[in-house]
Amino acid sequence: MPTVTAFTCGVRFGNCEILVKEALMALKKMGIETELIRLNDCKLQPCKACLDGPCKRLGPAACIHKDDGGWLAEKFYESDGYIMAAPVWSLAPASIVSVFRDRIFGYKADVAGWERRGTPEWAKNYKKHRPGALISVGGALTKNWTSLGMATLYTTTISAQTNVVDQMDVYGVSKHGEAAIREDNLLRARYLGENLGHAVLNPKIDWCGRWLGSDDGEACPSCHTSLMIARPGKNYVECAVCGRKGYVSLENGNLQYVWPEDPQNRLTMRGKYDHIREIERHGMGRPENYDELVRGKSKKYREWNDCVLTPPLKDKC
Ligand SMILES: Cc1cc2nc3c(=O)[nH]c(=O)nc-3n(C[C@H](O)[C@H](O)[C@H](O)COP(=O)(O)O)c2cc1C
Repeated sequence: MPTVTAFTCGVRFGNCEILVKEALMALKKMGIETELIRLNDCKLQPCKACLDGPCKRLGPAACIHKDDGGWLAEKFYESDGYIMAAPVWSLAPASIVSVFRDRIFGYKADVAGWERRGTPEWAKNYKKHRPGALISVGGALTKNWTSLGMATLYTTTISAQTNVVDQMDVYGVSKHGEAAIREDNLLRARYLGENLGHAVLNPKIDWCGRWLGSDDGEACPSCHTSLMIARPGKNYVECAVCGRKGYVSLENGNLQYVWPEDPQNRLTMRGKYDHIREIERHGMGRPENYDELVRGKSKKYREWNDCVLTPPLKDKC
């Protein structure tokens, strides 16, 4: 039986948990196993960016932090579908989302890298490319107070090729447990569960770019968000989430977009390969003595430490 694993980052029995459970109940009705992990119950320390550290070579369980990171990674990789839900705090998701993303995903989970250079031994039995759904919940009545919520939740899906088939960008739900009396949100959460369930029950379909959610009038046709990078003097915007480029015009005073296919769209494998090639190109023009040059020029910064404070609890907990 397939399993959907949901990760939730709000308070215990709070609004995120209610909406996630509503979605999971719909999945259960479809005969799908469901699991819910409260990330705030987990012991999870921020990534120290060891770069070519043990997690990359041996998998997340080999991380220098001895905490729940390895178990969380295993739970993700063993799942057939993914849900991530988080409350908006100061415009962005609660910070545990970023800690989770950096510990479990990032370049160590980069499926494009695996497909190009070979899957590391630790990941050989793991499933790849699973469908997912995202739920962002803000309390403010003005939607722009949740502006980075959904966009940041998306960053947990990119490297491991979690194909988002539906998402809920909720605002105006602030009191503890209020979601339980918001029939509109509960209904939408049920649909989200059913949409994810449909994708999970049809694993032979490539869910990349296949959207099952409703048309909520968002700008980007790939990731269905509206957070855009708009620079003066340009006739296009770039989606802040997926990178897709849209050409802008005004029709009767209203913004219109034309979205040609874009190889830089990082939700697709093609976009990811392109990014890898871009990184490789970046390294090509380097002089032979590049490492020596960097070491020499950075010496004075390494050597000046008088300004660095030692926190009172460093190495004590
Ligand atoms: C520290 C903090 C900061 C918050 N900042 C925002 C915010 O910037 N925008 C917003 O819409 N809601 C904000 N909220 C409200 C929560 O997003 C909202 O209450 C949400 O429903 C909580 O979800 P939960 O019950 O699952 O924890 C904030 C709440 C807290 C505790």
